[in-house]
Amino acid sequence: MENWELLDGIRARRSVRSYSERPVEQDKIDLLLECACAAPSAANRRPWHFVVIRERRTLNALAEAHPYAKMLLQAPLAVAVCGAILHEGHENPWWEEDCAAAMQNILLAAEGLGLNSVWLGVRWGRDDLPEKIEALLGVPQGIRVMGIAAIGYGAENKPPHRGIDEGAVHLERW
Ligand SMILES: Cc1cc2nc3c(=O)[nH]c(=O)nc-3n(C[C@H](O)[C@H](O)[C@H](O)COP(=O)(O)O)c2cc1C
Repeated sequence: MENWELLDGIRARRSVRSYSERPVEQDKIDLLLECACAAPSAANRRPWHFVVIRERRTLNALAEAHPYAKMLLQAPLAVAVCGAILHEGHENPWWEEDCAAAMQNILLAAEGLGLNSVWLGVRWGRDDLPEKIEALLGVPQGIRVMGIAAIGYGAENKPPHRGIDEGAVHLERW
């Protein structure tokens, strides 16, 4: 059976970068994390770990460290999506894809819960950005931060996505 609410939710998700002061309720945080863990992962390895950040001091420090994350000065919640880079002692080449899928589930779950969010990339950046963020969050060896979701009750409205990107689709062959 079709689920139009789900489809509408996917299209309605937009990056929102300003939030009200309302904190995010614990039951909603739990649902965000449950949805993150419902993501697909290669060979079902589930390499993800999540750092839930609500302390103002840490949110501000992340905003300071990251060149494009000033909304964290206002956001009541951030979730850092991290991944184990090894599986049974060997490199897991899929950890980033798996963590990206978990991240997208968090963003979509936020939409479903009446929250708003924005994905903050940390894998690429000047001045050892990933290492800085990992040190700030106390991430142990063997785990990398894939990205951070800033989350809150949005203080701006954006229209939903519509349509297929022109030139993005190639039928049967490129
Ligand atoms: C890997 C990745 C990294 C991103 N990094 C940032 C970021 O550092 N700061 C930011 O404000 N937005 C960031 N974004 C959000 C994009 O700017 C946003 O998704 C894009 O402009 C499309 O807008 P929409 O999300 O409203 O559809 C990132 C998105 C992705 C997928």
